[in-house]
Amino acid sequence: MQHRKCYAAPAKALARLKAGLTNKFTAIPAARRDPASFINPKNPPPLPPARISTTHTTLMTSRPAQILKGQHLLSIEPLSPQEITPLLDLAETYVVQGRRAYKRQPLLKGRTQINLFFESSTRTQGSFEIAGHRLGADVLNMAANTSSLSKGETVMDTAMTLNAMHPDILVVRHHASGAVELLAQKVGCAVINAGDGQHEHPTQALLDALTIRRNKGRLEGLTIAICGDVLHSRVARSNIILLQKMNARVRVIAPSTLLPSAIGNLGVEVFRDMREGLEGADVVMMLRLQLERMNGAFVPSAREYYRFFGLDEQKLKYAKSDALVMHPGPMNRGVEIDSAVADGVQSVIREQVEMGVALRMAVLDALSRNLPQEQN
Ligand code: NCD
Repeated sequence: MQHRKCYAAPAKALARLKAGLTNKFTAIPAARRDPASFINPKNPPPLPPARISTTHTTLMTSRPAQILKGQHLLSIEPLSPQEITPLLDLAETYVVQGRRAYKRQPLLKGRTQINLFFESSTRTQGSFEIAGHRLGADVLNMAANTSSLSKGETVMDTAMTLNAMHPDILVVRHHASGAVELLAQKVGCAVINAGDGQHEHPTQALLDALTIRRNKGRLEGLTIAICGDVLHSRVARSNIILLQKMNARVRVIAPSTLLPSAIGNLGVEVFRDMREGLEGADVVMMLRLQLERMNGAFVPSAREYYRFFGLDEQKLKYAKSDALVMHPGPMNRGVEIDSAVADGVQSVIREQVEMGVALRMAVLDALSRNLPQEQN
C-alpha cells in the first residue's frame, strides 16, 4: 500500500506536465503541515536580516565606482570574487529598498532597457522588468510569441533592429547556447544573459549565492549539493562555476544519463545516489527535469525518477538538519521535489524569488556605471 501511495503523486504530476498543467498545488494533509512553513501573504515571516559587509558602505557613498569590469554580463566564467562580493553587497541594499513602501530610486532615469525573450519565462523576465522599473528605466518587453521574433528573423537581424533604437541595456534569453554572446558582439549597449540554452544563467547563480550568503553568512567552506538534471541545466553550470570561485565545495547528484560527459573536468564531486550525495550538505539545490531540452528518454519514468532522485522528507534527513532547500523554479512538485519539502521550514525557494529582483537591480546598476555618461 505504502508503495502505491508513494508513486501516485509523480505519475499524476507527469500527466499534468505533459498536458501543460504544471505546478498545480498538491494539498498536504493538515496534520502534516507545519504552520511556520506556509507563507501567509498578509503576514509573511521575516526573512533573515541582511549581512552587510564593509564594502557595501563604501559603495553606497561612492556610486560611480566600478563593480563589474566588463560591458556585459554574459557568464559567470570571467567574473572574479572581487567583482562577485561587491555585487552581492550592492544587492543587499536593494533588498532593503524592495521592502520599503516606496521602492523607486531613479538611478536609470532616461535609460532604455529591452527584455528580449526568445524562450518563455516567468520569474526571470518579471524580475528584470520590476528591477528596471524600480531603478526608473524605460522598460520594453519583447517575447518571441507576441512579436515578429517568431516570424523567422535571425537573431542578428533582431539585434541590429533593436540596436537602431539605441537601447542602453538588452536582457536576452535564447534557447541556443552562445546566441546571447553572438548578439552582444553586434550591439553597442550592455547585454545581460538571462539564460542561453544549456550554457549559462549568470543572474540565477548570483541570486542563489545571495540567498545562501544571507542564510549561512558565507559561501566559503559550505558543501552544496546540486541535484537532478545537471546535463541540461544552465543554472547548474553557472552555480558550479560561481560557488567554486567562492571556495564552496560543490557536489552534483544525478543518474548517469543526466550528467554531462565532461563533468569530471568541472572539479565537482559526483554522486549517483541521493543518500550519499546529501550526507552532511549545507545546501540542497534541486533542478527541474528539462523535458523541453530532452531528445529521447533520459529517465525510465517520472515515477522512477522521483523514487530515486526526488527530494522528499526522508532523503532530506541525510543533509545537515539546518540545510537550505533551493530550487530556481519552475518546480515540478512530485517529480523532482515533494510539496512538503518545497513548502517546508528549510525551503528558501520564495526568498530566492525576492533576491532575484534585488540582484537584478544590482546588475543593472553595476552595468549602467560602465555605460557612456551624458556630457554636460
Ligand atoms: C531556470 C532556467 O530558465 O534555466 N529557471 C529560471 O530562470 N527561473 C531553470 C528551469 O527552467 O528549470
